[in-house]
Amino acid sequence: MQTIKIYDKEFTPYITDAEIQDKIKLLAQQLKTDYADKKPLFLSVLNGSFLFTADLFKHLTIKAEVCFVKLASYKGVSSTGNVITAIGLDTNLSGRHVIILEDIIDTGKTLHHFLPQLKTQQLASLKIAVLLNKKEALAYPVQVDYACFDIPNKFVVGYGLDYDGLGRNSKDIYQLKES
Ligand code: XMP
Ligand code: MG
Repeated sequence: MQTIKIYDKEFTPYITDAEIQDKIKLLAQQLKTDYADKKPLFLSVLNGSFLFTADLFKHLTIKAEVCFVKLASYKGVSSTGNVITAIGLDTNLSGRHVIILEDIIDTGKTLHHFLPQLKTQQLASLKIAVLLNKKEALAYPVQVDYACFDIPNKFVVGYGLDYDGLGRNSKDIYQLKES
């Protein structure tokens, strides 16, 4: 694997396709055990999670549904500031076992502002599964229930993750090169 360049930045190889696939298989195995008879509903957060979701889903040999959503923030009238809504959420979540799928959790801000809206909907349960967990960067009280990789607080691209729109279509994950 070689260093790649996207616009002005250089990225070095970090996690290989094979390592990613191994971890995703393990996660699928765990989810199959935990959700065997629960017909879970996966909420996959676009754009970054599309490859993660597709690969995970191929290994989930239990009854499961998936819904792709885009989280969009707007300045609501609420006094708390940012409100995040899920565009494309067309499924009734009441009584469902919901698992949010994210490519990466960084500060946790996005999910922290989105979770309260899910919690009003009488879910049977709610868990969060991420491919990459930037543990040190977490600044909001968000609990990550399943993580494939714990990574340091450095910018990464590839396997769905982008730098200014590019880099998503790489099988491997790359880390921003220290300058
Ligand atoms: P928060 O801070 O809300 O951020 O947890 C989560 C979102 O920030 C983006 N993000 C990244 N995207 N490489 C990326 O390509 C990264 O290293 C990175 N860190 C955060 C991402 O969109 C994620 O959903
Ligand atoms: Mg994302």
